[in-house]
Amino acid sequence: MSTPAQTERNPLAQIDWDFIEFYVGNAKQAAHFYCTAFGFDQVAYAGPETGVKDRVSYVLVQNNLRFVLTASLRPDDDIATHVREHGDGVKDVAILVEDARAAYDMAMRGGARSVLAPTELRDGSGCIVKATVAAYGDTVHSFIQRGDYRGIFLPGFVEARKSYPNAAKPNLLFVDHCVGNVGWGEMDAWGEFYHRVFGFSQLVSFDDTDISTDYTALRSKVMTDARHRVKFPINEPAHGKKKSQIEEYLDFYRGPGVQHLAIRTDDIAATIDALSANGVDFLDTPDTYYDMLAERVGTIDEAIDVLRERRILVDRDDQGYMLQIFTKPLQDRPTLFFEIIQRKGSLSFGKGNFKALFVSIEREQEKRGTL
Ligand code: FE2
Repeated sequence: MSTPAQTERNPLAQIDWDFIEFYVGNAKQAAHFYCTAFGFDQVAYAGPETGVKDRVSYVLVQNNLRFVLTASLRPDDDIATHVREHGDGVKDVAILVEDARAAYDMAMRGGARSVLAPTELRDGSGCIVKATVAAYGDTVHSFIQRGDYRGIFLPGFVEARKSYPNAAKPNLLFVDHCVGNVGWGEMDAWGEFYHRVFGFSQLVSFDDTDISTDYTALRSKVMTDARHRVKFPINEPAHGKKKSQIEEYLDFYRGPGVQHLAIRTDDIAATIDALSANGVDFLDTPDTYYDMLAERVGTIDEAIDVLRERRILVDRDDQGYMLQIFTKPLQDRPTLFFEIIQRKGSLSFGKGNFKALFVSIEREQEKRGTL
């Protein structure tokens, strides 16, 4: 079978992350939080002062990460409705492409729903082509074609730099993967969606025998582009004794959405120290996890005590190992969180850590009375 990814003409063969846009209740305060807690710098702004009457957006960058925080100035437009329904959350996981029209056409042929047909956005710095298709829940993917555009972000945005020299610098590098939670029995259909619409292939899958504790059960599959730049794991709940973390998410987000962004670092201990100094809260890990660690993962570069002190998790596969840790939810609802990940050869997603991790998440669920 020939898949779109195998043909040279695949317009999504050479892609990367472009930006992650959050819809939030108060973009000014959210921008301050992501800058001071996670070490971003503000670089651009759009709002009434720049001729955009119905919303404000702040653009934050750090290395190859770009976040856009957008809030409505109206009571009942799409942004306000999104925030009322979902709370603060990820709206657009935008993808950098060479040809947005071709990417959009391929997505349409694959059965995607159009949100924005290819549109040229222009200002004095050049032209960007943007097109948007719907994904799970109210989440969308924009295709961004930058060409030789020279502006700070997108037409309509002005340079508006603000940095926070007193915040510790975690040196976050880029998005490693972006995880979606979908409803009961919907994982396979969304995996198919990324195959048809993006030409992605399946990297790995987990079922409830891999991922279950007494209470939490889920199934997951990871879809990826050919170069493994853009990876979309998709989770669905599975039956356990009590309510799983995926169900809790679906209840609070009121449907499917982005569960976590995994962000790469090349020095996880220093990154965690900086984030902790900035007040970021991480999930705890049972102390017993570290008693068995050396036995389970073999020789690693890091001292076990360095990991134990910071509650960092480790997992090994046949290509190497990886280190990871998860923040607590980043907004009022227990929905979106971040993973900080450092890879040392491993391409995996920390299957060996699922159990320890879920025991920790269940403790938090118990505090919220949602287990
Ligand atoms: Fe992850």
